[in-house]
Amino acid sequence: MRHDANLTEERPTFVTHLECSITGETYEADILHGLSRAGRPLLVRYDLEGVSKALTKEALASRPADLWRYRELLPVRDSRDIVSLGETMTPIIPIPNSAAAAGGGEVLVKDEGRLPTGSFKARGLVMAVSMAKALGVGHIAIPTNGNAGAALAAYATRAGIRTTIFCPEDTPEVNVSEIALQGADTWRVNGLIDDCGKIVGAGKEAVGWFDLSTLKEPYRIEGKKTMGLELAEQLGWELPDVIFYPTGGGTGLIGMWKAFDELEAIGFIGPKRPRMIAVQAAGCAPIVKAFEDGVEHATRWEDAHTAASGIRVPQAVGDFLILRAVRESGGFAIAVSDEAIEAGLTEVAQSDGLLLCPEGAATWAAYRQALKDGRVSANERAVLFNCATGLKYPLPPARQTLDRHAPLDYSRFA
Ligand SMILES: Cc1ncc(COP(=O)(O)O)c(C=O)c1O
Repeated sequence: MRHDANLTEERPTFVTHLECSITGETYEADILHGLSRAGRPLLVRYDLEGVSKALTKEALASRPADLWRYRELLPVRDSRDIVSLGETMTPIIPIPNSAAAAGGGEVLVKDEGRLPTGSFKARGLVMAVSMAKALGVGHIAIPTNGNAGAALAAYATRAGIRTTIFCPEDTPEVNVSEIALQGADTWRVNGLIDDCGKIVGAGKEAVGWFDLSTLKEPYRIEGKKTMGLELAEQLGWELPDVIFYPTGGGTGLIGMWKAFDELEAIGFIGPKRPRMIAVQAAGCAPIVKAFEDGVEHATRWEDAHTAASGIRVPQAVGDFLILRAVRESGGFAIAVSDEAIEAGLTEVAQSDGLLLCPEGAATWAAYRQALKDGRVSANERAVLFNCATGLKYPLPPARQTLDRHAPLDYSRFA
């Protein structure tokens, strides 16, 4: 099979319609949609019986290792609309030394930092931009904490679509530079991501751009869903016991939960599900608060602050979908301090040689905390999501220097 067969071969597609995630009202496929009439996310629905007849595990196994191998469960109809930068399957890396030191069991890290633009946002944005191309969108805007903007800029530029991107002014420098360099009209805003989102929303009328904010269009979730498809396939169609996911807008968590249902419907997995754990930072934990209060919707978190910028999301449109998935799975939501995140990042780098991003380190800190308070046990197989490469963030400086002209005291290196 050709290395690019997933991108070039036509494969049957099975989208039947879209559905409002709160009212169940249906919407026609293949036309441009934002939110539903109820102001809620739209979910893509498939003829899963058709998929089950068209797709076998064996056929999948012979395809090139990128997210387009799941074409039958994805919305893009025509291969010519695929805008790819090489969305490779990401590896699953055990961290046995860190796990043993914490008294834990099997801990696996799904390392999403290997994707184009260095984060899992590539999954959602490659799908949304491919669909925007298919549906004739000419100009896209989004609010971003950095990684989503970087992925959007890259894919939209490749597709010849204009982008305007708004990020909080303290977004990591590398993200802002990356977004601008990849061709987006880039703006720093003196506010948080939801303040940026308001600018995007209000500009729809004024400028005419398409609002591609998290869950405000139906296809980013379909791209993020591939994390669940991939994880299941890589683990031999046996899902782990628990999944720790760093939760901002929650697209990935919602997407994986949807993926598991679709995989069961096509007969690839049974009813067993992992417990889904939504991880947030103590300085911005609206989902944790809503989970603990037993309510269905979260209230905006005021004065949100955390160094894990990807999960600094004071309010999520899909809050009820995150909470629903967490509760249905028997999981929980947990907050960790920035100190625990920083310590976790250092620990995994120094014990297992794996550089996490702060959001990924938050999942490790949450695992450790949950192990301690008994909410996970060492008998459970845990998967942590490291959503971006650690190289995108400021790292602690290394300050040792040597004067090559001075006599060297080699005992210093012994
Ligand atoms: C590195 C990183 N982790 C986690 C998240 C949160 O992802 P989600 O919006 O799917 O909850 C983001 C979002 O910006 C991110 O950049």
